[in-house]
Amino acid sequence: MKKPLATRDARLVAAARAARSHAYAPYSRYRVGAAIMTRGGSIYRGCNVENASYGATICAERAAVAAMVTGGHKDPVACAIVTQGAEPAAPCGICRQVLAEFARDMRLLLVSEDEAGRQTGRKSVRLAALLPLAFRLGR
Ligand code: THU
Repeated sequence: MKKPLATRDARLVAAARAARSHAYAPYSRYRVGAAIMTRGGSIYRGCNVENASYGATICAERAAVAAMVTGGHKDPVACAIVTQGAEPAAPCGICRQVLAEFARDMRLLLVSEDEAGRQTGRKSVRLAALLPLAFRLGR
């Protein structure tokens, strides 16, 4: 048994789960929820939004980043990502780059659930470990 999450992390995971319940994923049926916590403790959510033109799909993490910026914040410290299946999934490459735009190294809390909403896995990783040498625009 893993030790229970700290209150802040538990709040963040709950927000990501709530976001996931709104996922629009009629094509892949793979629902993703993300929640970002800012330095001041605000939480912004996102879910994946698919499109009939598959490439137009928006991932949950990028939707959460857009919500954060729209809410006037640019200082994320952690992001919870909830997916389905037996093991937690790590964000895709594009989402790693988009998250790194605002915090080169934030904590990612990856959680997976089964169909009944029971947690099947949990992992905490640093963004910098998933995206070493992130691209930065040299000017
Ligand atoms: N997806 C995310 O929301 N985040 C990721 O980091 C990877 C993939 C979504 C996109 C698509 O709706 C579904 O998962 C299957 O790829």
